[in-house]
Amino acid sequence: MSSQIDHLLSETRRFAPSADFADAAVGAADLYERAAADREGFWADQARELHWHTPFTQGLDWSNPPFATWFADGELNVAYNCLDRHVEAGHGDRIALLWEGENGDERRVSYAELTDEVKRVANVLQGLGVGAGDRVAIYLPMIPEAVAAMLAVARIGAIHSVVFGGFSADSLRARIDDAGAKLVITADGGYRKGKVSALKPAVDMALADRNGSGVQETVEHVLVVRRGGNDVEWQDGRDLWWHETVPDASPDHEAEGFPAENPLFILYTSGTTGKPKGILHTSGGYLTQAAFTNRVVHDIHPETDVYWCTADIGWITGHTYVTYGPLANGATQVLYEGTPDTPHPGRWWEVIEKYGVTVFYTAPTAIRSFMKIGREVPQKFDLSSLRLLGSVGEPINPEAWMWYRTIIGDETAPIVDTWWQTETGAIMISALPGVTETKPGSAQVPLPGITVDVVDDAGEPVGHGNGGLLVITEPWPSMLRGIWGDPERYKETYWDKFADKGYYFAGDGARLDDDGDVWLLGRVDDVMNVSGHRLSTAEIESALVGNEAVAEAAVVGASDETTGQAVVAFVIIKQSFLKAHPAEGLASTLRGWVGEQIGPIARPRDIYIVGELPKTRSGKIMRRLLRDVAEGREVGDTTTLADTMVMSTISAQVK
Ligand code: PRX
Repeated sequence: MSSQIDHLLSETRRFAPSADFADAAVGAADLYERAAADREGFWADQARELHWHTPFTQGLDWSNPPFATWFADGELNVAYNCLDRHVEAGHGDRIALLWEGENGDERRVSYAELTDEVKRVANVLQGLGVGAGDRVAIYLPMIPEAVAAMLAVARIGAIHSVVFGGFSADSLRARIDDAGAKLVITADGGYRKGKVSALKPAVDMALADRNGSGVQETVEHVLVVRRGGNDVEWQDGRDLWWHETVPDASPDHEAEGFPAENPLFILYTSGTTGKPKGILHTSGGYLTQAAFTNRVVHDIHPETDVYWCTADIGWITGHTYVTYGPLANGATQVLYEGTPDTPHPGRWWEVIEKYGVTVFYTAPTAIRSFMKIGREVPQKFDLSSLRLLGSVGEPINPEAWMWYRTIIGDETAPIVDTWWQTETGAIMISALPGVTETKPGSAQVPLPGITVDVVDDAGEPVGHGNGGLLVITEPWPSMLRGIWGDPERYKETYWDKFADKGYYFAGDGARLDDDGDVWLLGRVDDVMNVSGHRLSTAEIESALVGNEAVAEAAVVGASDETTGQAVVAFVIIKQSFLKAHPAEGLASTLRGWVGEQIGPIARPRDIYIVGELPKTRSGKIMRRLLRDVAEGREVGDTTTLADTMVMSTISAQVK
């Protein structure tokens, strides 16, 4: 890692924005000065860009750290801000969603139409007894109803928990149970890789008879969108079709103001233990930073831009930069249902050409897989509408950055590499297009109003040129407000490490270069980042040992050219199992098992069946050594192992 980063830090290329871009940009250099002079006043100004039912008089309250509130005495309605407000301002005919189904279906949904739909859904939800503070699980493909469902939940002051459609029934069940969801909104299925991938059966399985399981069933209804047309099982009384209820509901629904700190959503993400954490976000501060960052980092001009963020709504990027940020700004955006390579490898570029996308936001892993396919594919399409490119989710290596700039951005579109997390709610570190000279590979500078540092274990700044831990030194509006149902875990995970300084510990290693720009070095904990998706080693290990064949398992994230990191598992099989079953095919069975337990994204790239695992005398697995093996490196220092021979045995077995 460190030689790689030394190489990165010698990066000398700089790209200044063109004068035209800078002149027209929403962001300007004076934002930094204003924020530095009065940080809280700066955020209050941004918050006042929203519509408040009751204006706030309070800014940040940090009297009970690490529990922050922002604008707490104000009241707003998040959905009103994303919808009605634009219609009332005369923009009802503006297209909110340019939807493209994977199978070629199309829908254009205007702000007026989306507002109407959300009001009807809000009425349906209330008719089903869902009210402020209730939790609603959303398990949908990328269709307009997904956005409408989120906004309808927000409109009535309820809390959504969106579960990525690629997660298994078990993962869905765990999330439904942890949040105590009252309603699930799903679809029969959606299109993925050229065929219908069913969703409703996973909901049925997650809610299957739980007699004797000790879990109290909280789900009263399942609202089902028809998208795939696949056959589904039906439980009368519990299940309702969207198309049979929503169109009949009244389109009149008054948006009530809710306190700024009313919870807006829970989103589960992987941590260092086996159990995903329910990250809790609230309304006023979150929407303020979502809208502000989308406006200045994505340089949104709502009258002229066609924006496209490729993230699924099941991830934080989909929450903040598909649903809330762009709609709060009245932007027009593309929503695409499927995979990038269906029915052909140029599908994304075709979508950009078709809709004249101007601002494009995607993940490095996607860029690297397009690089692999070759420039001929994007070059078949007219990408000249693109004027700004964004990257999110993992470090973007300079080579991919340059390819993105040259092949997709025609050497003119600025690239913003945006660092943030599920927990931060919105972008924290990024260039401001039109202001910052960009540098391939570096996320660069904290946004106006955001304060970060790189520190050592004692919380002391490491200064320029040195590696350390990334911290956020002051609270920010869209920060997580806690972990659902577990305030202790919230404190422990993010705040205890630098408790005396009051810093938020992000879990990422970072380095400042001589210009003070931030370079992200990846996670410093047992969290992996595979294709920009966060996965926990402990969660996959616990899935593996849940299989009858497995005695012990250790999982590491090994670097991978395309996906950034890949899951590699080392597994010890039970002797008793081997006596009764053949060993052949076990690795692929276990790979499938992990896919069923967690979801296909968690399937290990490699599973090595080994006789032993490297452990310290106190029994701790030394993952560092396994990572050496997984990455094909010479194995590092083994002197602290209880049995120093173990690594040579493992290396031999892996070869
Ligand atoms: O390690 C960092 C990496 O992704 C982690 C957050 O993952 P998640 O909560 O799933 O959110 C992803 C989308 C915001 C971070 O701790 N990460 C995210 N963006 C970048 C990044 N690493 C380097 N550069 C980035 N731009």
